[in-house]
Amino acid sequence: MIIGVPKEIKNNENRVALTPAGAKELIKNGHEVFVQSTAGLGSGFSDNQYTEEGAQILPDIESTYAKAEMIIKVKEPIEKEYSLIKENQLVFTYFHFASYEPLTKAMIESKSVCLAYETVEKPDRSLPLLVPMSEVAGRMAIQEGAKYLEKPLQGRGILLGGVPGVRPAKVLVLGGGIVGTQAAKMAAGLGADVTIMDISLARLRYLADIMPANVNTYMSSEYNIRELLGSHDLIVGAVLIPGAKAPHLVTRDMLKLMKPGTVLVDVAVDQGGCIETCKPTTHENPTYIIDDILHYCVANMPGAVPYTSTLALTNATLPYAIELANKGWKKACGENNELKLGLNIINGDVVYKGVSEAFDLPYHAVENYV
Ligand SMILES: NC(=O)c1ccc[n+]([C@@H]2O[C@H](COP(=O)([O-])OP(=O)(O)OC[C@H]3O[C@@H](n4cnc5c(N)ncnc54)[C@H](O)[C@@H]3O)[C@@H](O)[C@H]2O)c1
Repeated sequence: MIIGVPKEIKNNENRVALTPAGAKELIKNGHEVFVQSTAGLGSGFSDNQYTEEGAQILPDIESTYAKAEMIIKVKEPIEKEYSLIKENQLVFTYFHFASYEPLTKAMIESKSVCLAYETVEKPDRSLPLLVPMSEVAGRMAIQEGAKYLEKPLQGRGILLGGVPGVRPAKVLVLGGGIVGTQAAKMAAGLGADVTIMDISLARLRYLADIMPANVNTYMSSEYNIRELLGSHDLIVGAVLIPGAKAPHLVTRDMLKLMKPGTVLVDVAVDQGGCIETCKPTTHENPTYIIDDILHYCVANMPGAVPYTSTLALTNATLPYAIELANKGWKKACGENNELKLGLNIINGDVVYKGVSEAFDLPYHAVENYV
């Protein structure tokens, strides 16, 4: 199969969908890989590193789309790319269709085959191509939180791990899923006094078993959250209710319970945020202050660490990309239900319920196509 890797053109997106190591694997499997010039640069991979593994470099985005039977990308295509996507071309990337109608309509019109990273699903209902970015964001939440707790950055001026003779900072993590677990682990590793909350008792039992001694588990409820807010220095929002807006666990009136200089990092901001006063910010302008409380609400946290994020993402996507290239999308999706669940639009037909419901579009059962 001919595989194309365009350079990401969304603002501030430095990740790339295939590393030189990934290109080598696809080529070993008998495929041709075409990479747009400088596509890997933002993640630290030069054109030469790709050609050394047998990939070929194309000068621009137009030639990359024109050449490829399968496009592997990171972000959803943006308007400039819509017209480059061809009938029958397989596009394997994050789409998040349900949140953007113009993209959905454009992909229907293109008659391409859209396989979305975010809906590839394992039998235990986990989302293997979302997990790596949650892992990055969870770990980063503590790194950013620790930084903004510094006085020159308008935080309380407290060192996360304390020092001998001085108590460490207190970190409260709301939600004990992927993001929350990674955040709690990082904070604990730095020596903070950590509390992690969830509504699932089974999850809290598991966390209590695997976390180090400086992590306490606590059932999530409004009462319990109110009780803890005043004594914590860094609060991380990591809640998710699949398919729904995040619930506001920390409301506007609760800010007055907190100490001035408390830092809030709402990782769930991409689903509306679990802290009422959070609104999406960018890496250029990541924070703002309300009532002396510092808010960090960057919606694409992994974008700040493209090297790590690219490797984390491609570790997860490559096995699927190889399967798609080796078998073609029809056979691959027919034989692998995880991939089949990734199919969102096929040759103009919407085959994913959530997308058809979001925009009142006709739904076609995916079984009719694979
Ligand atoms: N900002 C970013 O850059 C970025 C990056 C990756 C993920 N995210 C977002 O982070 C959020 C968390 O993702 P995840 O992968 O950890 O999800 P996850 O499903 O693994 O975990 C969510 C957890 O929240 C818990 N929960 C639900 N309601 C709760 C409540 N009322 N109180 C406490 N806990 C509650 C669930 O039981 C679950 O354990 C999502 O919104 C995701 O989109 C953001």
